[in-house]
Amino acid sequence: MTRMLIAGNWKMNGDISMAQNLATTIAREGDASNCEYLLCPPFTAIQTVAAAIGDSGISLGGQDCHAAEAGAHTGDISVGMLTNLGCEYVIVGHSERRSNHGESNADVKAKTKAAVEGGLTAIVCVGESEAERESGDALAVVGSQVASSLPDAASATNTVMAYEPVWAIGTGKVPTVEQIAEMHIHIQSVLAQELGNDSAKTFRILYGGSVNAENADEILRTDGVGGALVGGASLKAESFLAIGRSCP
Ligand code: PGA
Repeated sequence: MTRMLIAGNWKMNGDISMAQNLATTIAREGDASNCEYLLCPPFTAIQTVAAAIGDSGISLGGQDCHAAEAGAHTGDISVGMLTNLGCEYVIVGHSERRSNHGESNADVKAKTKAAVEGGLTAIVCVGESEAERESGDALAVVGSQVASSLPDAASATNTVMAYEPVWAIGTGKVPTVEQIAEMHIHIQSVLAQELGNDSAKTFRILYGGSVNAENADEILRTDGVGGALVGGASLKAESFLAIGRSCP
C-alpha cells in the first residue's frame, strides 16, 4: 500500500531560524515508515529547509509556481527554480492563490502542466466555499474544478489531489467524515472519467482544512483519504508529527 502523504503548508509564516529549527526537528523525529512527510516552506526558506532535512527521507516542495519556464514575471518562481533547490513537489491552486491572486482553473491547469513536465509532483487543490456547500453545490463545484484543473499529462504518479473546503481552512471547522468520504469518492469518479479508471484508482487524494493532532486519526481513517494537507498545525513539530503518527 502507498504510504499516506502528510504535507505541511507553512504559508507566509516564520523566518530562517524558525524554518531551520522546525525542519531539523521533523527530520530527526519523523518516522518515514509511518507516512511520507512533505514540507512546503516559503520560497525564501527552501534552501535552509533542504539543508536541514538532508537525506532524512523528508520531502520538500514549493507553495506555488509560475506556468512559464522563465521570463518577465516579477515576483514569480519557476518549476526549474524549485527543482534546482531539491523540491519534488509543488502546491498549485490553493484556495488562497485562487482568491488572493484571482487564479482560475485554467491558470491552475497551466501550472500543473508546467510542474509535471518539469519533473515535480503537483498537489492540485480544490474545494467549495461555505455558500456552495450550503446551497448543495459542493459536489458539482469541486467536480468541475477537478475536471478543468488537470492537464492531459496528469496521472497518479505525477499529481496528487487535495480536497480543501474553503470554509474549513484555518477556521477549526471540519466537515463530517461522511462529507469527506462522499467528496473523495466523487473526486475519484471525476478522475476516472477524465483520466481513465486505472490511473484514478491509485491517485492520492489528501484532505486539508483544520487538520490537527486531535482530529487526524478519524480523518485519516476515512474512506478515500490518502493523506493530509496541513496548514496551522504544521508550524509546530509536535502537532505535525502527531498527525503523521495517526496514519493507519
Ligand atoms: P489549515 O490550512 O490546516 O490551517 O486549515 C490548510 C491549508 O490551507 O492547506
